[in-house]
Amino acid sequence: MGQGSITRRYRFCAAHRLHTDYLTIAENRTVFGKCNNSNGHGHNYVVLVTIGSPAADQTGRTMNLDALDRVVAERIVSRFDHQDLNRDPEFAARTTTGENLVLLIWDLLVTQVPEGQLQKVAVIETRDNYFEYTGSAAVSARS
Ligand code: NI
Repeated sequence: MGQGSITRRYRFCAAHRLHTDYLTIAENRTVFGKCNNSNGHGHNYVVLVTIGSPAADQTGRTMNLDALDRVVAERIVSRFDHQDLNRDPEFAARTTTGENLVLLIWDLLVTQVPEGQLQKVAVIETRDNYFEYTGSAAVSARS
C-alpha cells in the first residue's frame, strides 16, 4: 500500500511590510518595490497543511482532523489573524516574506502533530504567489 496524505486549508488576514534594516531606504525600495511602502498592506493568507500517514491503521485516517484544526487555530490563526506580521517577535530579525512565513508556520506546527507526519506547509499570499516548505529531511539526508 502506498501512503496517502490529506491537505487541510486554513485562512487568516494579516498586514505586513517588506523591509529590512540591513538595507538602506533606497535598497529596500529596489528589492521590495511597493511592498516596502511604509503604511504596509494586507493579505488574505491561505495556509495549506499536508499530513501524511507513515503507518496505515484500521481507521484509514492520517490523524484526527479535529485535533489538527485545534492546533492550527491555537498556534497559527489566533497568532496571526488581524495582526501586523512585522510586530511578531519571530519577525524581529527577519523579513515577513512568504518564504519566511511558511518556515515559521512549519516550525510552529511540526512539534504539535505526530512525529514524522507533517509533510508540507504551503502559504498562498496573493493570486500569483505561493510558498511551500517540506521540512529539512532532504537537506539533512545529504549532509
Ligand atoms: Ni505583501
